[in-house]
Amino acid sequence: MKKIAILFSGAGSNLAYILEHLHQKKVEVVLTISNNPNAKGIKYAKKYNIPCVIIDSKAFALREDFDNALVEEIQKHSIDLSVLAGFMRILTPVFTDNIKSINLHPSLLPKFKGLKAIERTYKSDDEFGGVSVHWVNSELDAGEIIVQKQISKVGLSFDEYLEQIKTIEKIALCEAIEKSLLI
Ligand code: GRF
Repeated sequence: MKKIAILFSGAGSNLAYILEHLHQKKVEVVLTISNNPNAKGIKYAKKYNIPCVIIDSKAFALREDFDNALVEEIQKHSIDLSVLAGFMRILTPVFTDNIKSINLHPSLLPKFKGLKAIERTYKSDDEFGGVSVHWVNSELDAGEIIVQKQISKVGLSFDEYLEQIKTIEKIALCEAIEKSLLI
């Protein structure tokens, strides 16, 4: 089975979904990394007995040094693919040139790159919003798209829109993991 690492920063609902639906069925999650020592998602790695390495981004003055610590940790394991699932860090070429990875972003890229994508999509005049999973390169939220899913915003409150995004992003991410491991 192909081996993956999952990087996350917060609630970890995408991590939990991957563990429940793909782990030891389609892929093996052998490593998780959080840059946030207080991330709620750490409990999911513990539940499945998967190592969760905390690399506290606040402890590094330079982005490159933080990225180097990530690369060293990932390279200790034989990882086929790293998955950025709610990993709220901008990565430098120290990471992107060395680690094959995919990222989940909650907008229809190339629209609404960067932070607050769900809020900005909702406030826009666009009829559709959605989620994207893309290959990671050195440009923020700009690598080749692997999977995209869209929903209509028409008639939805923000909370309803958010809930639908949180649902489809997990399905999109799992599809993209399977698809990118075939390449
Ligand atoms: C997701 O909405 C993801 O698209 C965004 O950050 C959120 C992470 O959620 N970039 P979680 O930590 O997986 O619950």
